[in-house]
Order: sequence, then C-alpha cells, then structure tokens
Amino acid sequence: MIPRYLVNFDSEKLTKSFYDFIVVGSGIAGLTAALRVCDIHKTLLLTKGEVRETTTWYAQGGVATALGKHDSPELHFEDTTRAGDGLCEPEVVKILVSEGRERVMDLIDMGAEFDRLGEEIRLTREGGHSLPRILHVGDATGSAIEATLVRMAKLCSGLEIQEHQFALDLLTSEGRCVGLLVFDPALGEFSLCFARAVILATGGAGQIYSVTTNPLISTGDGMSMAYRAGAEMMDMEFVQFHPTALDSEHSPRFLITEALRGEGAYLRDCSGKRFMVGVHPMAELAPRGVVVREMIKVMERCRTDHVYLDATHIPTEKLKVRFSTIWQKCEECGYSLATDLIPVLPAAHYMIGGVKADVDGRTTLPGLYVSGEVAATGVHGANRLASNSLLEGLVFSKRIVDVLGRETEEISQNNLRGVRVKSSIPKRDVWVDLDGSRRLLQETMMEKVGVTRSRESLGEALEVFGDLEEILEVEFSSVKGFELQNMVIVAKLIARAASMREESRGVHFREDFPEKDDANWKKHIILR
Ligand code: FAD
Ligand code: SIN
Repeated sequence: MIPRYLVNFDSEKLTKSFYDFIVVGSGIAGLTAALRVCDIHKTLLLTKGEVRETTTWYAQGGVATALGKHDSPELHFEDTTRAGDGLCEPEVVKILVSEGRERVMDLIDMGAEFDRLGEEIRLTREGGHSLPRILHVGDATGSAIEATLVRMAKLCSGLEIQEHQFALDLLTSEGRCVGLLVFDPALGEFSLCFARAVILATGGAGQIYSVTTNPLISTGDGMSMAYRAGAEMMDMEFVQFHPTALDSEHSPRFLITEALRGEGAYLRDCSGKRFMVGVHPMAELAPRGVVVREMIKVMERCRTDHVYLDATHIPTEKLKVRFSTIWQKCEECGYSLATDLIPVLPAAHYMIGGVKADVDGRTTLPGLYVSGEVAATGVHGANRLASNSLLEGLVFSKRIVDVLGRETEEISQNNLRGVRVKSSIPKRDVWVDLDGSRRLLQETMMEKVGVTRSRESLGEALEVFGDLEEILEVEFSSVKGFELQNMVIVAKLIARAASMREESRGVHFREDFPEKDDANWKKHIILR
C-alpha cells in the first residue's frame, strides 16, 4: 500500500513558514520559473543538494531550436513528432518549437555564451534531427546554462534559496496543494512551508536503474510525492536510454554526447563493422530508441557488453577543442579519442513520463504545477528528440509563471495560516538494508524493465517491487531512506505501465509484442 505521507506529523506541532510560491529544484526548469516570479512575489527555491547539483549541470550536447538559415519551427516540429512515434501531442510540440527560440534568446540576454563562428551561432546535429539545430557551449552546455541562471537567481531580492533541504511530501487540504513538508537532514527536523502554489521541477529518476547517466539527485522524488498527493501520472513506461555512455565502472556512467556522432563519429561492432548503416536512413543519427535496440542485438551477437564509438577519423585538434570534457574523461580512463575505439553502452537517461501536465504546467491537483523532466505534457511522445529537454524547461516554466499569479489570486496568507494538516498511520519499526534494497531495485529495473521488456520480465519485476513495498511502511529519518521509498514507488509505476502497454513504440520495446499497434495503443497510459 502506498501511504499518503511518508512520515507522521501534525502541522500544529511543526515550524511553519509562508510564501507566495515554492519552487522545488534548481535545474533549468526550477531556476527559470523562480527567476520569473521572484521580483514580485515572495518565493522559496528549495533544493536537496547544492544549488548546482542538477542534471542540467551535466547536459552536454546542447539546446535545440530552429535558428539555422534552412531551418524552421515547422521542421523542428516534424523531427520532434517523427521521433515521438505517434504519441506527441501536436499542440504542445507547436508551443515548444515556436516559443523555444525566444526563450533561448532570453538565455543569451542573461549572458549564456553559446559557441559562435564569427558572429553566427554555431549549430550542431544530433540523433533524429534532419539538420544542424543544436546550440552548444563546447561539450559542457549544461554547466554554462546553469551557471548563468544561478548567477541571475542570486541577484533576485525576492528569492530565498535553501540548499540541502529535502522536499518530502506535498501538503494538501480540501483537494488543493498548499505547500510542502520539508526535511532538514543536518538537523534531523521536519518543517512546513505553505504557499499559494508549488512548482515541482525535481527532474528525472535515472537512479532507479543500475546503469544510468543521471546524477545521484535523480531519484524520482517529485514524481513519487505528486503521485502520493493524488496527481495523475502519464507515459511512465517510456524511459529513454542513451546509446553512448562510456563503459567504465564509474557510476553514474559518463555520457559521450550524441553531438560527437553529429560531428561524424561512427558506431562499430566487435568486428569493426558500422552496424547502423542499412538499419535506418540516418544510420548513427537515427532516433535513440532505434540505435539502442540495434546495439542490444549487436552486443548479444558479439557476446560483449558494449559496442564501439569511433571518432579516430575526426581531426584531433577538433576533438580536443570541441569535445574537451570528453577528451579529458577518456584520457583519465585510458582511452584516446584520436586513436582508440571507445567502448560504449546504453544507459538510462531521461524520463519521458512523469506528472501529467497541460501546456501551462497545471497538474490534475490544483495548486501544483510541474516543469522540466518531472512533467509529462506529451511533448516528447514515445521518444524524446535529443536536446529538446533543456528547451522544455525554458519554455514551460515561463508559461507556468504567466498564469500562476492570476490563478492563485484567491489564496491568501490568512487562508494558509488556518490550514491544519496531519498524518497518523501505523508504521513498522524494522531494520532495512538501504544499500542492498537500492541495488536490488536498480538491478531489477535494468534487467527486467530496461531496453527490452516482456510480460514475464515485467511480472517478475512487479513481484520484487511488491516485496520492496514493505519499505513504504517504515518511518525513516534519513534522505537515503526517503529516496529509496520514492524509487520503489516510481519503479512500480514504470513496471505497471510497461506491462499494460502491449505493443512496441518509441523507447518501449516488448519482446512479446514487437509491433506498433495504432488501433489499440495510440494513446497515453494515465495512472492515478
Ligand atoms: P534537474 O536539472 O535534474 O534539477 C532537478 C532539481 O531538483 C535539482 O536541483 C535537485 O536537487 C532537485 N530535487 C530533486 N528532488 C528533490 C527533493 N526531494 N527535494 C529538494 N530538491 C529536489 N538534455 C538536453 O536537452 N540537452 C543535452 O545536451 C542534454 N544532455 C544531458 C546529459 C546528461 C549526462 C544527462 C543526464 C541528461 C542530459 N539531458 C540533456 C537531459 C537534461 O539535462 C535534463 O532532462 C534536464 O536538465 C532536466 O532539468 P530539470 O530542471 O527538469 O531537472
Ligand atoms: C547528448 O548530449 O547526447 C544528450 C542530449 C540529450 O539528452 O538531449
């Protein structure tokens, strides 16, 4: 049974604070939203690590927008929906591609310095894009954007930034989200923050897989707490694997950007053959779902756990300068991009599913808005187009802020001060092997709910998660414990949705239903 709240509490007995708006998360989605409200509204931005410790920071390839001479929002729309394999919501994609350009310009106005050739912004290409469309800052685009946004946030007087504060649960009263239950790990204390609305920008959940590119913060907390609070979840079965994570012992796995293939690198099998040629007209730049599935076949045939990325034909100087972070990381691991074939493997990378939201970030729970990777608007369909994710955070966070003030006008501080929230449900007092359970969950997801799935594998996974669900009845007082509880909930939602979808589409591949089935499955799965 999934409890409404992870711990028992009574609002009468906890410290309370009051804000206009609370933003949870300091990645591109959270900072963009916070920056746009903090001048006029008392805003709290809360993050469970240091402010920069976000997935955004690690983004490499760049941000997609139709800037090129031969490009247009219409072409970007076509590429996005083609990759989305029949499940993109056209109205949402139209917004992404048409408003994206202005949002990227806002970033440039704030000081983000994308690579240029003379005056012109340099564009690169990634999988699924029919032409170069990706703005980048070398191979470290995310850290450049994050640094720009953090610098701006620190200048905003109405913004209170709290680091190392763990958002544990959304508070609800009379069917509305009214704030957050927060855990301070340094003090071991809980407190309550009330607000007219909460914007969740907590990112994805890659950490539920044993092989992932996602940083440690990506444990699906936002998805799990929204689900507990009654918000609807959508598209949870669609988990995107990135084809080219460096095969090393490091966790998370280091990403080798798709932009390297965009600049001409090849994928080769154990005998040196370019295996994507003939499989898809775009060869190595086919959409990710297609590349990853072919890689799995090759790895099985070759009996290896990786394929090879070959950039040796690209001029060394270009590799060193344009891909300096990757160059350095490969050197640390004993490889030279200039002379070696680099072993790469698929790794869980991006949650397409999440908290169901409309084009203005509204969820089905009044008072709760979501943006970024935690949200599921239908913009990515069944397979996200590369570099559309940073763009998503920019576009949809701005749209939330455009409606937020008006839609929460009637909620006054007085209303909020009068709200009482409490939870008292029986809890079990048992010892839990947190590391062991986390590992079991991650390995089960990888083996049974990974790139390929079947009724059998999903049934086995659901059994494991059924056993792990006992953990939800335990009252923890550590971030590690709460994160594990969130991961159990998200893992189960993914496995449930994956077992319902009896077809293969986008990044969801069922061995027992290998074909796409538009007649029965051209629709979203919504869990509540
Ligand atoms: P994040 O940037 O992940 O931020 C989440 C925030 O929420 C963090 O501050 C975190 O601390 C906070 N948080 C989470 N849970 C809690 C909690 N319980 N309490 C308090 N705070 C919490 N996309 C692209 O478009 N282009 C790219 O080039 C690209 N490259 C990528 C490279 C890598 C290695 C990875 C992993 C992803 C890449 N992506 C890329 C995807 C993209 O980076 C992410 O989807 C995007 O940055 C998500 O932004 P976000 O703001 O939604 O979440
Ligand atoms: C990459 O640089 O390959 C990642 C891009 C993305 O995930 O959008």
